[in-house]
Amino acid sequence: MSAMRDLIATLPDQLRWAAGLDVAAISTSASEALVAGMGGSGIAGAIAEAVADEAGVRVTPHRSYGLPGWAARSRPLLVAVSHSGNTEETRDAVESAAAAGLDVAAVTTGGWLADRAESAGWPLVAAPPGPQPRAAVGYLSGGVLRVLEAAGLLPDQAPALREAADVVERLLDGGSGPGPALAGDLAEALEGRVAVIYGGSGAGAVAANRWKTQINENGKAPAYWSEFPELDHNEIVGWTAFPDLSAERMGVVFLHVPGEHPRIALRARITMALIEDRAGIAGEVHAQGEHLLARLFSLIVVGDLVSVSIAQRAGVDPMPVDIIEDLKRRLAAEET
Ligand code: PA5
Repeated sequence: MSAMRDLIATLPDQLRWAAGLDVAAISTSASEALVAGMGGSGIAGAIAEAVADEAGVRVTPHRSYGLPGWAARSRPLLVAVSHSGNTEETRDAVESAAAAGLDVAAVTTGGWLADRAESAGWPLVAAPPGPQPRAAVGYLSGGVLRVLEAAGLLPDQAPALREAADVVERLLDGGSGPGPALAGDLAEALEGRVAVIYGGSGAGAVAANRWKTQINENGKAPAYWSEFPELDHNEIVGWTAFPDLSAERMGVVFLHVPGEHPRIALRARITMALIEDRAGIAGEVHAQGEHLLARLFSLIVVGDLVSVSIAQRAGVDPMPVDIIEDLKRRLAAEET
């Protein structure tokens, strides 16, 4: 079993850890939040956005330097999430928020962000250390959700986190559950193909994004994602030009979330029928669970397993992401 597969198996414990967090009430007048974070940490902001949307609260993921132009006027709570605590875009967003006088909270394992939060007296969720940010998605997204709850922006997140843990545990079932079996089939169907992941706007799109990035980082393979209904207004036409090539070399996976708009499910069905002879349909996955968070994680865990199975089939180690480290080193050496 690969080390990354072992880390995926810790996802239920990560979610239960987050459910058990006791985050002190955060005093803020903010009525919305901006979650600054990149890559394997930044997905926590997208997860929080989907969960908060269902609760009627605006949470916006921020994956860049500085702050969006509207932040100075809307004055969101800035939640910085960084596994290492050292990511330059996240640091820049934090300093911009501090300079603008926004309330700030942090979720991290340490690094600059932990030091900055401690010296400024900002609320800080200290996530357990680990080898890779993307393997800490339960800690990081759970930490962000509990911070939003402590700031009065979300209701109690513990029940949803516990349900997500249970659903993921059932899917994994010690490695012999339906999750690994489904993931193995999908990885086989995707072998030698460029994966394209389709989900409905909201939770389906968040999961599709996560699948894509996990296939990139664990599988070391190109992958892309898109969301309904938008893809039906452009991307669907793109399956026209190279039907033989795309049928042979692309593999589409459809992610479905119960409760999404009924026209989204209909669109997925019709889209699949229209592109199936040109797109190499690899399969479909249906989310499970009652809470949106549980549904999201039921898709995330299958995608994570697909990505390590892809790596295994290709004979690559899912763990290292040397090119990201190299890029960060080169950036750190350059002044701007
Ligand atoms: O998977 C990775 O290593 C990256 O996507 C990182 O998560 C990203 O570079 C941000 O780093 P960090 O999560 O430490 O803030």
